[in-house]
Amino acid sequence: MQGQLATVFGASGFIGRNIVRELAARGFRVNAVCRDAEHAKFLKPMGTVGQVTPMRADVTDPAAVARAVAGADVVVNLCGILYQSGRNTFEAVQATAPGTIAKAAAAAGARALVHVSAIGADAGSRSAYARSKAAGEAAVRAAFPAAVILRPSIVYGPDDSFFNRFAGMAQMLPVLPLFGGGGTRFQPVYVDDVADAAMAAIARPDAAGNTYELGGPTVYTFRQLMEMTLAEIHRKRPLVAVPFWLASLKAAFLELLPVPPLTRDQVELLKTDNVVSAGARTLADLGVAATPLEIVLPTYLDKFRVGGRYAGGRAPA
Ligand SMILES: NC(=O)c1ccc[n+]([C@@H]2O[C@H](COP(=O)([O-])OP(=O)(O)OC[C@H]3O[C@@H](n4cnc5c(N)ncnc54)[C@H](OP(=O)(O)O)[C@@H]3O)[C@@H](O)[C@H]2O)c1
Repeated sequence: MQGQLATVFGASGFIGRNIVRELAARGFRVNAVCRDAEHAKFLKPMGTVGQVTPMRADVTDPAAVARAVAGADVVVNLCGILYQSGRNTFEAVQATAPGTIAKAAAAAGARALVHVSAIGADAGSRSAYARSKAAGEAAVRAAFPAAVILRPSIVYGPDDSFFNRFAGMAQMLPVLPLFGGGGTRFQPVYVDDVADAAMAAIARPDAAGNTYELGGPTVYTFRQLMEMTLAEIHRKRPLVAVPFWLASLKAAFLELLPVPPLTRDQVELLKTDNVVSAGARTLADLGVAATPLEIVLPTYLDKFRVGGRYAGGRAPA
C-alpha cells in the first residue's frame, strides 16, 4: 500500500480519525476530507510529514467530491449525521452524497470503495435516518458494484457519543432515562475493530461487493448498557422508564436546540433492535476478532467518576 492515495470523507469524525490512523500506518497517503479542514489538522501527526492532508469538501457538492477523489486508489466514506441541520439533511448527506462519492470514485478509477452505513438501514423504516442510509447503500451499489458496505451497531471507544453522553448525563442528572423501558437490544462494536474491518475490506479481494454487519461479541439491552455505564463511573442513579410517546414529545422540544440531544427520529430508531442479523456477513468474515466491551469501557469512562480518573474511588456497594 506504500504511496497509494486514500481519500477519506468524514475523516475528522469519531470513526474517521481511527481509519486515517490505520491507513497512514499502512503507508497510504491520505486526503482527509471534511467541511472544516482547520478542524482536521489534528490528523496530520498520524502520518509522516505530508502523508495526511486535511482537505475541505462538502459531500453535497459533486465538483468538490470529484476534486477530493482525483487520483485516489481507495475511497472511504464515513459522512453521516444524527440530526438534520441546514443543508446537511439526511437526504443530502446519507441518501444522495454516497452515490455522488461512488460515481466519482468509479470515474477516478479507484480500485476500492468502503462505505460506512448502519445496522437498521431500511427503505421501509419509519425513521428518516434509516431510510436515507438504505437509499445511500443502493446508490453506492449502483455506481460502484464492488464497493464494500459496513453496517456497524453502536460504535464505542474513547471519543464515542453514546457511553460518554450517558456517563456525562449521570454526572449532572439525578436519574437516567430508559427509553421505551430499556428493552431495545444493541451489539456495541469497538471503533478499532471497525477500523480493522475497513482495512480488511480494502485489502481482501474476497470482500469486494459484500455488505458486513459489525457488532461486538455480546448483545445487551439498553437497560444493561446504562447499568454498565453507572457501574464503571461508580455512581448510583435510578433508571426511570420513559415511554416512547413521552420521549418523542420531549424530543419535539429538544429539536429546537442548535445541537439537539434527542430527536423524534432517534426515538423511532430506538424502537428497533440494533443487532447483527441472522445470516449476515460479520467482523469474523473479515478476519477481525470482536473486542469485548467490558475490556475497553473502563479505559475511558473512569474520568466520569466522583473526583475524576485518579481519585481511586471504589464502586458503591
Ligand atoms: N458512531 C456510531 O455509533 C455509528 C453507528 C453506526 C453507524 N455509524 C455511521 O458511521 C459513520 C461515521 O460515524 P461517526 O460516529 O464517525 O460520525 P461523526 O463523528 O459525526 O463524523 C462525521 C464526519 O462527517 C463529516 N461531515 C458531515 N457532514 C459533511 C458534509 N456535508 N460534507 C463533508 N463532510 C461532512 C464531519 O465533519 P464536518 O462536520 O467538519 O464536515 C465528520 O468528519 C456515519 O455514516 C454514521 O452514520 C456510526
